[in-house]
Amino acid sequence: MDAATNLKYLITPGGSLQGRLRVPGDKSISHRSIMLSAIAEGTTHIRGFLEGADSLATLAAFREMGVEIQGPEHGELSVKGVGLRGLRQPERPLDMGNSGTAMRLLAGLLAGQRFPATLVGDASLSRRPMRRVTAPLTEMGAQVLTSEAGSAPLHIQPVSSLQGIDYHLPVASAQVKSCLMLAGLYAQGDTCITETAPTRDHTERMLTAFGYEVSRSGSRICLKGGGRLSSCDLEIPADISSAAFFMVGASIAHGSDILLESVGINPTRVGIINILRDMGANIDLTDKRMAGGEPVADIRVRSARLRGIRIPLDQVPLAIDEFPVIFVAAACADGETILTGAEELRVKESDRIQVMADGLKHLGIEAEPRADGIRILGGELGSTDGGDGIHAHSDHRIAMSFAIAGLRARGPVEVHDCANVETSFPGFARLAAQAGLQIEQEVV
Ligand code: S3P
Repeated sequence: MDAATNLKYLITPGGSLQGRLRVPGDKSISHRSIMLSAIAEGTTHIRGFLEGADSLATLAAFREMGVEIQGPEHGELSVKGVGLRGLRQPERPLDMGNSGTAMRLLAGLLAGQRFPATLVGDASLSRRPMRRVTAPLTEMGAQVLTSEAGSAPLHIQPVSSLQGIDYHLPVASAQVKSCLMLAGLYAQGDTCITETAPTRDHTERMLTAFGYEVSRSGSRICLKGGGRLSSCDLEIPADISSAAFFMVGASIAHGSDILLESVGINPTRVGIINILRDMGANIDLTDKRMAGGEPVADIRVRSARLRGIRIPLDQVPLAIDEFPVIFVAAACADGETILTGAEELRVKESDRIQVMADGLKHLGIEAEPRADGIRILGGELGSTDGGDGIHAHSDHRIAMSFAIAGLRARGPVEVHDCANVETSFPGFARLAAQAGLQIEQEVV
């Protein structure tokens, strides 16, 4: 959905969340499933793929580069891999839409190809920092040009060869790590990346599932270029980042009791569970098992009285996408919640510190944005009735967070600019309504 067809959410407060829910497939894993299966040898069958605009942009890019893909239909698809060297030059710029993951990971993969390519994105993506990937890629010998501001479009020129790199990540970023690992597949020698803090390790796990050797020693990850990937079957778990909205919703809405099915609980993604439990949430994990190289579980959440906390620094990278909705939990908690060490939130799909602080203040909550975090004092959420409504700034997670806040508001809540929910959670409003959120959508 483009900005011209936008969407407004109208939430009537009250009610509780109930029932068994399955949220869509993991976005990070869905992107990677297309990228790795496309450059593997043989056909990969994928189940649980997220049919959201972000991962569909990745899928479309590989079709543009000559990869035959059947589906997706109900999250199932087959990708006929072309091998490491089988991609074709795209005839036009590859449009990554709103997706930072697609753009940053593809920059690495394309840096090693024998053809030029250009990556473009929407207004939000075109403002996001890309030098974090182009600088180390240049050190590897790649030719990747950004705009003067260091953002998209990215123009990638072929080079005769890439060299492996030994890189210490200056920011805790799985996107930068993964970008370099993908470039490393095409490089001479070893590519090693040392992390400052653990970040999501889906690329490492999935490369291993495709039979590519990745070694890890402490915080250092290494792979050798020039190997091969062999097709496999992949089952993508439900996205914990999408489940997070229901975890917070069920925690704050009195009388709630929900079961979220087959959610990915990779240890590098469970900050939301750890933080909510610290706040006093009632969360049980059952039926823990492995699916497609990733741990999954069913997650039961019942309402609880939450208390404000100082969010532990080591949880920040593990919950990086969940802070908008964690701020809603903080707004409903007793006392103060303080987040530090999260300056990355300022360069996500929107400036999530500022945009959340503005929206919470609009609802009468004391929220003090800081350079690297926020201080929120729990209180009673008001309403947007008679006013302007809350602006999601085209950021999917902001839109869904304020929809969830509506459960505990004193009066109706209107959220504008929600069309981008489609990027990560198609069907959010329908599923939320089914669970008990009184939500209506209006095309504007
Ligand atoms: C992602 C990594 C994170 C996250 C993003 C998805 C990934 O970004 O915020 O939504 O799939 O690798 P950073 O690695 O830039 O923190």
